[in-house]
Amino acid sequence: MVNRNKIHPLLIDPVTVRDGVRGIERPKSFMESVSEDPEVLKEISNHHIVSARQFSKETVVQLCRLAAHYETTPTLIHKPLSDKIMISAFSEPSTRTRFSFESAWSRLGGNVMSMTDPGTTGLAKGESMEDIAEMFSNYGDVMVLRSSDDEMIYSILEYLRIPVVNAGNGIDEHPTQALSDLYTILKWRPDLSFDSPESKIKIGIIGTPGKMRTVRSLLLLLSYFHSAIDEIIIINSEEGVFSEGQAEELKHSGLSLRIEKNLEQILPELDVIYINSIAWVGDTYETLAGNLKLHAASPLKKDAIILHPLARGPELDTSLDQTEHNWYFAQARGAVFLRMALLTCILQKIDQVADVQI
Ligand code: CP
Repeated sequence: MVNRNKIHPLLIDPVTVRDGVRGIERPKSFMESVSEDPEVLKEISNHHIVSARQFSKETVVQLCRLAAHYETTPTLIHKPLSDKIMISAFSEPSTRTRFSFESAWSRLGGNVMSMTDPGTTGLAKGESMEDIAEMFSNYGDVMVLRSSDDEMIYSILEYLRIPVVNAGNGIDEHPTQALSDLYTILKWRPDLSFDSPESKIKIGIIGTPGKMRTVRSLLLLLSYFHSAIDEIIIINSEEGVFSEGQAEELKHSGLSLRIEKNLEQILPELDVIYINSIAWVGDTYETLAGNLKLHAASPLKKDAIILHPLARGPELDTSLDQTEHNWYFAQARGAVFLRMALLTCILQKIDQVADVQI
């Protein structure tokens, strides 16, 4: 309860910025370990971005390098998107994705038109997707779309004359979250981008790949880095962890996968732990069943890092926030710079920000 008769104690001392983001010092070392190759990034110029399947290892590494360039250059002298407009259309709740896309776009100098309730558009009057796409193509330069409906992004891109970026479509994919996850992992261990890294890593994923779009897209991107990954262990006590054909596709692309039920037993082996408990299904969300929880007293390897796409629930205890294992805040922060990099490329402005002359 706020006591209105006296000044709040937090207002007496000078405001200090909390030092809460671990891993923040790493973008420079990642940037210096990878040579710039802007030609690779031209492959996604003016493209719709819907699936993690659209990338290659080289594109992911170069996007992360450009993200690192942005993260180490807080004030841009040249704003490459200063005459551009982004349509941000989110019909499902979002803290990180919407605000980090809008932050990324604003930092690049662009303007944003935002829609969070489709009931305020012509959809509520039965307007066709074809007509809405035609209007959006006139009013903006790129569209970022989140929907609980897996198919909506495919329905609209057929008619759009501007690129659309998938910000999460039902239980299907969340490719820009997965890119942000890779950016975090590569800042932590830049050598994982090399064909022969110093050592391979073991990754534990606490979640349900068949139902969680973040996990599905992450596994697809990790398959490009299979030469750096010893094994991926899915920790889940339920049946039906993968969707039909998913595990086979990932194994075929070079990943070694296994499922474990006992978290405490497997934790001491893991270098990276990715945890998520929420899956959007239809109009609501399901949380992962079982007693899979991480906290500061969990038997973690000394240098292990924890990633979480957030929002968190009880599965990720706040006791971890002040430990060296907390890379989930750096992951959420880095998403702004990764999305800046992606938007720069899609909007065909890579030649304006690259150091190398093309
Ligand atoms: N990571 C993520 O998708 O978070 P939001 O739902 O807050 O966008």
